Amino acid sequence: MSENDHYAIAIDGPAASGKSTIAKCLARELGLVMVNSGAMYRAVTWKMLELGVDIHNADSVVAALRAMQVECGVEGCFSTIAIDGRWLSEELRASAVNQAVSVVAAVPEVRELLVQKQRDYLKHTSVVMEGRDIGSVVFPDTRYKIYVDASEEVRAARRSAEGVTDSVAARDKADSNRKTAPLLIAPGAVVLDNSHHTVESAVAAALEILRTQGLTKK
Ligand code: DC
Repeated sequence: MSENDHYAIAIDGPAASGKSTIAKCLARELGLVMVNSGAMYRAVTWKMLELGVDIHNADSVVAALRAMQVECGVEGCFSTIAIDGRWLSEELRASAVNQAVSVVAAVPEVRELLVQKQRDYLKHTSVVMEGRDIGSVVFPDTRYKIYVDASEEVRAARRSAEGVTDSVAARDKADSNRKTAPLLIAPGAVVLDNSHHTVESAVAAALEILRTQGLTKK
């Protein structure tokens, strides 16, 4: 699983299930780097929109992808991403990106490039990585896998409380039904229902799951 004894904790789940918050807290608690793989798909999507690429034309997406320089880094204990030298943050949460990201993320060449970048993190550090296919595709051999779920109502309410337009149900449907690396509960993953947890109790539940999966605090 690991390079140089580094290991990965995979946190997957649908949009707005609270997996980023849990992953961040776990990274802090365990002294690991938190990698937000969704930000990578968002960054590539943001650039496609900037360039005016027809995202429904996979050939155009692949051509633009080949011309892009995607750089992944770490700041503090969080992953960062730059496209063609521009480090991105707030841009990635824009409504236009929310609406387009599932289309771009379904293109196999996009996934191939970003999965490689995700795996490359283990060359340097152990990670808590959150996404949709981390336990199933990116690190299928890791012992540490959690699938964070929450009811559709709770997830929609979370997004609107953040003040962004994001049709989480439509995005989940697209992410779950695509051919390449769909959202699913990976073999070996334990489901954490985050519909009614506080942040503290969700993190405690996640740590308990990891303990049952064999993680001892390092
Ligand atoms: O986690 P997020 O909502 O920021 O992810 C944005 C989109 O990126 C999500 O709708 C699907 C895609 N994604 C993916 O396909 N695979 C991942 N590992 C992470 C995100």
